[in-house]
Amino acid sequence: MTEAQARQRGGNAEDISAERLAEIGIRFEVDGEIATITLDRPDKRNAQTFATWTALAGIGESLPEQVRVVVVKGEGPSFSAGIDLRMFTPEGVPGQGSFSSAARGGDADFEHSIRKAQAGFLWLRRPEIVSIAAVQGHAIGAGFQLALACDLRIVADDVKFCMKEPALGLVPDLTGTKPLVELVGLAKAIDICLTARTVHAEEAMRIGLAEQVVARDDLDRAVRDKAAQLLSTNRDAAVATKRLLQGARGRTLEEQGVAEGLEQAARIKALFGG
Ligand code: CAA
Repeated sequence: MTEAQARQRGGNAEDISAERLAEIGIRFEVDGEIATITLDRPDKRNAQTFATWTALAGIGESLPEQVRVVVVKGEGPSFSAGIDLRMFTPEGVPGQGSFSSAARGGDADFEHSIRKAQAGFLWLRRPEIVSIAAVQGHAIGAGFQLALACDLRIVADDVKFCMKEPALGLVPDLTGTKPLVELVGLAKAIDICLTARTVHAEEAMRIGLAEQVVARDDLDRAVRDKAAQLLSTNRDAAVATKRLLQGARGRTLEEQGVAEGLEQAARIKALFGG
């Protein structure tokens, strides 16, 4: 998508021209109903900056309507080594400041910045799409949270998830805590976060962090196969079903039944209503 298209769709949209994304270290490609976001700073293990997160938000805002599957992957040996450690230095990341400069600003400003960063993660759960994280090597801190932001995680057998934030005196704040608890349960989430230990492939699969573990060389193929399976079902039914599944935890069985009936009535009307 060109910058002009992005602006047309979003009004005040983030610059997600290919040139700008390349500067930030992201590639964004759309092939029919599949969009692929690739973190592309392999020499820095795909470390993420504030610009990474606002660019992700911009991609979400301007995602072409035909897209049904979004793949998030990382180039090179690691999915992502988390936040760019330059953020912890007084100099920070050129043009993006540092935590020292943020700490000198007001609390309201900082909370606003965090909300802006989180926007880059939240859209990946929209009912209209299914997001798949393809994770190899390290997924640390913000990298782990980006994988958690996706609906599904297909991982290579060398995957190493680590929620490092508490070890650094921070909390995970890129929306990762809720999906982590929902996937693995509170006790396991406490264990993983408060020890900042590494979760390898076998455990990730066993505790529900990963849907599938494959050999490293098979990761792209496994993700392509999953995308094809997801695209084989009816689009509108898939959106409605995801909406139902996402809402299930917050409803009683009775309420969920009502919600199912409403969605089904709309489906039947669309399919057989003439
Ligand atoms: N930020 C910036 N640069 C990073 C980086 C990061 N997070 N992680 C790795 N790099 C850079 C290294 O400095 C190195 O650069 P040079 O070649 O210029 O020296 C290059 O990437 C390769 O790194 P390694 O040689 O260390 O590669 P490795 O494969 O041996 O190890 C690693 C990989 C285990 C991920 C290791 O690099 C590492 O531990 N990185 C730091 C991880 C980290 O602590 N991340 C912060 C998580 S907390 C978080 O994300 C907080 C938040 O959201 C608020």
